Amino acid sequence: MEKSIIGKIGRNDPCICGSGKKYKKCCMNTQKNRNFKKEYMDKYNIILKDSQQIEGIKKSGRLLLSILDKVEKIIEPGITTNMINDLVHEEHVRSSAIPAPLNYRGFPKSVCTSVNEVICHGIPSDRILNKGDIVNVDITPILNNYYADASKTFFVGTPTRDGRKIVDIAKEALKRGINAVKPGATLGDIGFVIQNYAESLGCSVVREFVGHGVGINFHEQPQVLHYGTRGNGIKLVPGMVFTIEPMINLGKKELHVLDDNWTAVTDDNSLSAQFEQTILVTPTGCESLTPFEL
Ligand code: MF3
Ligand code: CO
Ligand code: CO
Repeated sequence: MEKSIIGKIGRNDPCICGSGKKYKKCCMNTQKNRNFKKEYMDKYNIILKDSQQIEGIKKSGRLLLSILDKVEKIIEPGITTNMINDLVHEEHVRSSAIPAPLNYRGFPKSVCTSVNEVICHGIPSDRILNKGDIVNVDITPILNNYYADASKTFFVGTPTRDGRKIVDIAKEALKRGINAVKPGATLGDIGFVIQNYAESLGCSVVREFVGHGVGINFHEQPQVLHYGTRGNGIKLVPGMVFTIEPMINLGKKELHVLDDNWTAVTDDNSLSAQFEQTILVTPTGCESLTPFEL
């Protein structure tokens, strides 16, 4: 039998529906007290995670962060994105983990490395990184069958003004998205705060790629849009695990995919940056399962 995290809510805790009332005065004794686990599976195909699954995803997340730290240390002008791939691949093997991107829908490498105007899904190659470039490194280990998914955008040497600007904005966009996560909030609330922030600074939010449920599989339900309207979309409940990974462009939001069928590039060649974390909805708010400072 799986033990749901729902079982951890105390009678006197704030109700998971977000009403602000005590659980015992709200959903605990009313017909609103549904079996979220079954309801979310039946209605949305969303796998609410139990405490054992959360522990597994957390361990995968810890490995991910240790690899990301090692990547950061080798990033400097003159290295190639293949060198990042080799390091990431070796670190997975060393920890008996599998890099989920490798052979995923035909993706040929173990990590995505997206440079400058590349929005996401950049394929590691012999491309040399130059001073002033920005590079997103997106890692997804499968450790003991559990997936964690996170990415950071790094500066190569001294950043340009535009490079610093778009990286700072993408980072803050993720931070604001995470801060919107709590039981009773909706997916639309997350998208709204991200879009509102990025567009207020003259930047744009990519529409074609979205965050996603994660943990048992690479890409699960729900889809997490990085734009939207307050109050719209599925209500967040404890046990949901999904990524937030806004891709923010310095110019326009339109993109095209290169002939390799993976590399997504801004149409106007403006810089694009992204940060991603795997987030768990808890009874009181949320917890990052891939925590790093934002
Ligand atoms: N890690 C990406 C994400 O955040 C997905 C990469 S798919 C790949 O969802 F095949 F390109 F690796
Ligand atoms: Co992701
Ligand atoms: Co990712």
